[in-house]
Amino acid sequence: MFGLACQPLANVLLDFWQADNSGAYDNITYNFRGHQYTNAQGAFKLTTIVPGLYPGRTRHLHVKAQAPGRPILTTQLYFPGEPRNNTDTIFDPRLLMTVRTVGTGRRPRSTSCSTSRAYRPRTHRRVRLRAAAPGRLG
Ligand SMILES: [Fe+2]
Repeated sequence: MFGLACQPLANVLLDFWQADNSGAYDNITYNFRGHQYTNAQGAFKLTTIVPGLYPGRTRHLHVKAQAPGRPILTTQLYFPGEPRNNTDTIFDPRLLMTVRTVGTGRRPRSTSCSTSRAYRPRTHRRVRLRAAAPGRLG
């Protein structure tokens, strides 16, 4: 996680939730939900499965991010190359993760921060969520 000046944001609360591999959300035992905090370098690692599809949506992860003392940013992260990215009406290409295939899994790549590529969501203009931190999916 980076601030608008590309400074790493430590202790950002990241609350993730997603569908299972069949596209269903577990609203009983809350599998595939959880939270963590970014480290001193603003990094985090999420190990999970690739979420399944459900009607009308492309594959995505939900996330809320909250830097200490700051408002909550609620957003989603998307997978590149998904056919439904072209038909999902709330898909946003600025929220695509950079993903590489590792074996049978997919792994987001670490990326650098650039102020020229700042994502400024309409709901929150002070914190930018990038799929930039070390992480593992699949
Ligand atoms: Fe969803």
